[in-house]
Amino acid sequence: MLRKNKKIVANWKMNPSTLAEAEDFYHSSCDACLAVGGHEKVDVVVCPPFIYLDALSKIESSTELGAQDCHWRDHGAFTGEVSPLMLKRFSVKYVIIGHSERRYIMRETDEMINKKVKAVLKNDLVPILAVGEKEKGDYKQDILIDQLSSDLKDLNAGQIAKIIIAYEPVWAIGTGDADTPENTLEAIKIIREILSRLASKEMTIPILYGGSVSSMNVADFLSHSEIAGALIGSASVDKEEFSKIIKIASEL
Ligand code: PGA
Repeated sequence: MLRKNKKIVANWKMNPSTLAEAEDFYHSSCDACLAVGGHEKVDVVVCPPFIYLDALSKIESSTELGAQDCHWRDHGAFTGEVSPLMLKRFSVKYVIIGHSERRYIMRETDEMINKKVKAVLKNDLVPILAVGEKEKGDYKQDILIDQLSSDLKDLNAGQIAKIIIAYEPVWAIGTGDADTPENTLEAIKIIREILSRLASKEMTIPILYGGSVSSMNVADFLSHSEIAGALIGSASVDKEEFSKIIKIASEL
């Protein structure tokens, strides 16, 4: 079977505090990616805060840029928001949609997430849709059915085929308590069944895992062919740690 690159998505969240640090992190990620053979070996996507996108998009690199969110309209009276159309102009290729910090802290609803997914696709960008249960032990299947059927409402099979899903159990995010690869595989199986039902055909889109991924556990997840990559928060703003993760992913 042909080897498929693993996708490593860095979600810097509201970090770092200065542009100089952002450039330093970005250069470090690019160097780590180049050192292992670049695009041939691993796909690295960096999602910085909006205000750093302009500067980072000017740096020649073997990594790609993503955004952490966007609005669903291209322009208009939406104070404080950034549109997918604007993001496209800064070489952004991916947009994380429905991250749990937006769902639960910023009170984003599935209806808003659904509009955002559609807007991102309309602008020819790739949505990385984050889904997952809130509490450890929650019954995953019902939660995933609810989230995916609302977030992907009215999308056809062709549109669903362009999406990346990140399975992120909320209890595992930023806690140091990562899920197990076994539970993740079970969630991925459930997600695939739901997607196939929604699209009325088998969907082979990439499904990532996110939640306390580090250089210590990344291989446990990514050694499974069903886990296409990782969405990484805290470890992505630690240069040494993130470089190690890129190297490990490039070897799997
Ligand atoms: P974490 O965050 O790696 O710090 O757990 C993951 C995420 O929020 O996507």
